[in-house]
Amino acid sequence: MKAGGALTEKLKSAFLLRQKRLAESECVRLFHGDTEGDPRLLIEKFGPVFWVFEKEREGLPLVRPEEKESVVNAIRVGIPQLEEDFSVYWLLRPKGKLPSDEPELLRGKDREEIIASELGIKYLIRSKKVRHPGLFLDHFPLRKWLMASQQIRGRVLNTFSYTGSLSCAAHFGGAREVLTLDLSKPTIEWAKENWKLNGYPEAAGDFIFGDVFEWLPKFKKKGRQFDHLILDPPSFSRGKSGTFSTEKNMNDLHGLALDLLVPGGLLISSINSETISQDAFQKTLIQLLQKRKQEFEILSPLSADPVGFPRATHLKGLIVRIG
Ligand SMILES: C[S@@+](CC[C@H](N)C(=O)[O-])C[C@H]1O[C@@H](n2cnc3c(N)ncnc32)[C@H](O)[C@@H]1O
Repeated sequence: MKAGGALTEKLKSAFLLRQKRLAESECVRLFHGDTEGDPRLLIEKFGPVFWVFEKEREGLPLVRPEEKESVVNAIRVGIPQLEEDFSVYWLLRPKGKLPSDEPELLRGKDREEIIASELGIKYLIRSKKVRHPGLFLDHFPLRKWLMASQQIRGRVLNTFSYTGSLSCAAHFGGAREVLTLDLSKPTIEWAKENWKLNGYPEAAGDFIFGDVFEWLPKFKKKGRQFDHLILDPPSFSRGKSGTFSTEKNMNDLHGLALDLLVPGGLLISSINSETISQDAFQKTLIQLLQKRKQEFEILSPLSADPVGFPRATHLKGLIVRIG
């Protein structure tokens, strides 16, 4: 088999599995290397822009130039309705270090900023001075649920919002007001831009650059309540209020969130963890609700998009109605 041949075959099968999704959405994870045969690579498509994330793995060589070429060729032949001048960006994530400040343009013209849509919502996708294009594709099922479940209404607080994709989905799904909160200033600005891009009313969207662990107690003090509260923390965070890890502090975070929900409200809680199982996550949350003597109904478990992330186990969570 010629250089890159084995990889080309893996990419070909992965792209074939996603043909239906590619016809529905401009934003698709095309290759989830961890479970599809090459743990060094993740490939994502945002309209004409492709991002390849290369993870440096112990005991595995870095991707060779001819393998990079075969990734570009596999995209050229395997992706339907591809623009002639599609762009491929490549970001190396070295082991134990931050990746470089922006991806390298491997092919096509520089597309610093484009708009790509998913389920009819537009998102600003960036490829300059960023380490991530701005849309986490594993949450496709949650965005779809927020948009289509008909359970969303009233006031929503979206915490750890990143670029606010869940805020846009919640507004589309029926939220009257959405408050979006993140600890990163550029990210909150990006979330505002995504909101505006979709023509959502300014009065319906509020954006706070701040620490969840400072703001949730502040809201409680002010008697501010929400119909739905979204939590999606990183596995580790350091803010002004101290450090947080999903392993150690999820119960505290759930407690702060539950204090702000109206009766009948929804807690939408998700984590990214390979060490906490869905069972353990659910059990701990239920124990907390029982301790607080709160009635509840589990509406749905959360997991990563099975089309883009086959057999992935990192994302877990629950949508729970609180009595
Ligand atoms: C996993 S991402 C969230 C992804 C987002 N829910 C989405 O679907 O696009 C985690 C986000 O939490 C933010 N963050 C980390 N610690 C925080 C804190 N203490 N308070 C507020 N935001 C925080 C980070 O800036 C980052 O944008």
